[in-house]
Amino acid sequence: MTELTIALSKGRIFEETLPLLASAGIVPQENPEQSRKLIIGTNRPHIRLIIVRASDVPTYVQYGAADFGIAGKDVLIEHGGQGLYQPLDLNIARCRMMVAVREGFDYAAATQPGCRLRVATKYPDIAAEHFANKGVHVDLIKLYGSMELAPLVGLSDAIVDLVSTGNTLKANHLQAVEHIADISSRLVVNKAALKLKYAAIQPIIDAFAAVIEADEAA
Ligand code: ATP
Ligand code: PRP
Repeated sequence: MTELTIALSKGRIFEETLPLLASAGIVPQENPEQSRKLIIGTNRPHIRLIIVRASDVPTYVQYGAADFGIAGKDVLIEHGGQGLYQPLDLNIARCRMMVAVREGFDYAAATQPGCRLRVATKYPDIAAEHFANKGVHVDLIKLYGSMELAPLVGLSDAIVDLVSTGNTLKANHLQAVEHIADISSRLVVNKAALKLKYAAIQPIIDAFAAVIEADEAA
């Protein structure tokens, strides 16, 4: 039997991936939220899951430490996607990449020619490209989380972050001022693994695709 390793992150991606895995007949033996184990077996003895940070999934797959994985488009844009085949948009973990500022902040004035906008973000490549396309000069400040705090304490004028319900922005008296991109999670497959382990991997891709098609038709 061909050994397969699947890279997943804990939290929303793991939860939303369970039905997809089930459609391919794969059931994890443990819940990573309750276990400290980083390698989790499945009901299929030759298939295992590795639990990594969401932003590390493309790296594990790129280097072949995992045969495939699931990663947000946000993470994939920042990673660059080298060595990865991206056959499916799984339509899970859906959200929007937005620019947000404090309520009442004059964003139009702050983005006039000659101005420099201070932008805090976990996504410097996405932010740099967005503002370059608009011709707005920015100073980017790299953060690893809780971006919403930055404008509240004077670290930045604006943030580039993910928004889903909008509750986090609202709770922190911020408002979205620009939509950069719609985000969802993708299946990412190591290109060499797809060739070498095609017979094992392609049926899983097909099973995932069938679930997405059925969801879209519903
Ligand atoms: P890391 O642990 O690497 O810092 P993270 O904390 O952003 O990553 P998660 O919060 O599990 O990891 O998010 C995983 C993916 O889910 C993100 O890359 C993004 O594509 C998507 N996502 C993030 N926030 C939301 C949200 N509020 N609603 C829906 N999807 C989201
Ligand atoms: C994400 C994102 C926002 C929040 C938006 O954070 O960075 O803070 O979700 O979601 P909302 O619009 O539904 O409020 P997450 O929950 O992943 O926290 P983390 O980045 O600290 O892991």
